[in-house]
Amino acid sequence: MVATSVRTNTDLAFQRCLSPDCGATYDVGEAIISCGKCGSLIDVVYDWDRLPVPDSLSFFQQKWARRNEPLCRSGVWRFHELLPFAPPEKVVTIGEGQTLLHPSDGVAKYIGLRAGGLYLQYEGLNPSGSFKDNGMTAAFTHAHLIGAKRAACASTGNTSASLALYCGVSKLMQAVIFIGSGKISYGKLSQALDFGALTIQIAGDFDDAMQRVREVCEKLGSYRVNSVNPCRLEGQKSSMFRVLEGLDWQVPDWIVVPGGNLGNSSAFGKTFMELKELGLIERVPRLAVINATGANTLYQLFETLGQRWNGGHLDRKVEEGFVQQMDRENRRASTIASAIEINRPVNYEKCLRALEVCDGVVREVTDQQILDAKAQVGANGLGCEPASAASVAGAKLLRSEGVIAPSERVVCILTGHQLKDPTATVAYHTTDQEEFNRVLGSRGVKRAEFANRAVAVPNDLDEIVRAIQLNS
Ligand code: F0G
Repeated sequence: MVATSVRTNTDLAFQRCLSPDCGATYDVGEAIISCGKCGSLIDVVYDWDRLPVPDSLSFFQQKWARRNEPLCRSGVWRFHELLPFAPPEKVVTIGEGQTLLHPSDGVAKYIGLRAGGLYLQYEGLNPSGSFKDNGMTAAFTHAHLIGAKRAACASTGNTSASLALYCGVSKLMQAVIFIGSGKISYGKLSQALDFGALTIQIAGDFDDAMQRVREVCEKLGSYRVNSVNPCRLEGQKSSMFRVLEGLDWQVPDWIVVPGGNLGNSSAFGKTFMELKELGLIERVPRLAVINATGANTLYQLFETLGQRWNGGHLDRKVEEGFVQQMDRENRRASTIASAIEINRPVNYEKCLRALEVCDGVVREVTDQQILDAKAQVGANGLGCEPASAASVAGAKLLRSEGVIAPSERVVCILTGHQLKDPTATVAYHTTDQEEFNRVLGSRGVKRAEFANRAVAVPNDLDEIVRAIQLNS
């Protein structure tokens, strides 16, 4: 059994119920996922007045010069002063968060932005190939802090790869991962298996796995590392710190991020809320969260039904009615972007808060739009998995609507590496119509406008040379 609580002897960091009407607080040494009083989500909060907060974000520049120290090398923990829930000696880091902000004029042109106006925050550079490591180092640190011996998650693949990696490297606990059968890409499944995680493949989808992992963790006392874990989201604030760092501490006009379980968008909103409160930034960027059309709960609730955070006083009937109807119809999420194939996002309420803080918008994009955008990202040299490209497809849509102005500075988050899901990529570029139809046609993808098709030639030198000359 995991120790569910340790006293940290400090109230500089604590946990608090998200609902302002409840506001119950908990020690940071407790493993809690929801408020024991009202059931709402939990935030990690800090008594900033009693903490050594830097006067300016440029303070963090000197950390980079000390990157021989593990906490300065980590792209998460070099911002420790802005997520100080665990003492430095308890931090478990594997050098995550070495991710970069790349300007991309090629993708800017595709979206309809001026040269110099578009940046890609390439989180695929993380050790397990996705942004999950930003959060996992923080959740794992917390699990270690409270003495957990078994950590579990439900996953569409990246969280599980990340958890498996941290367990494999540190040997501090056993990883138990829950995945929907046939619902995760081979790249991600292979990581979990290779890193040695106990892999429970359930006959269901991510939403089913999420429900089961909650029950199992309660029964077995395992530590849960899904993004409903408030400490995990503290780590996920760091991609925003790195975006600001990449822009010499200037705030962009837009952050565009794919929305699945809504952990990133929630964490980003909290980042800007805190930085503003601390006087470290003067304004917050606008946030755009992009759903896949086949997994569009947030889009439906926020844009179609108009649900708002409303300072924490949200009209719950809107959400309840929507979920009841989803249950009645047994509606299942379905998109080629398997990482965001989620109909019941656990961080929904935190995301509503983020949308309020950042004057946000939500859009949905089709699998066709996602794959075309993915091909453009790849053709411009970085490469990402389908879910990540939802951000680029969403930015293009918002630009075409005029919501994003052509002169604005936009950051799209590329959440996962290109090699996570080669099946979708190869099917897009294939010359084999049957393969295209099987993998993509079945999802309503009709064409591959940016396909780079392999050229088939006989094994003959002259023919090969002719093919190269013809295609150059
Ligand atoms: N992009 C990628 C590559 C992801 O793996 C995920 C989530 C998301 C976007 C959505 O992010 O949940 O913060 O809105 N993957 C989870 C997983 C659910 O299990 O790996 P979110």
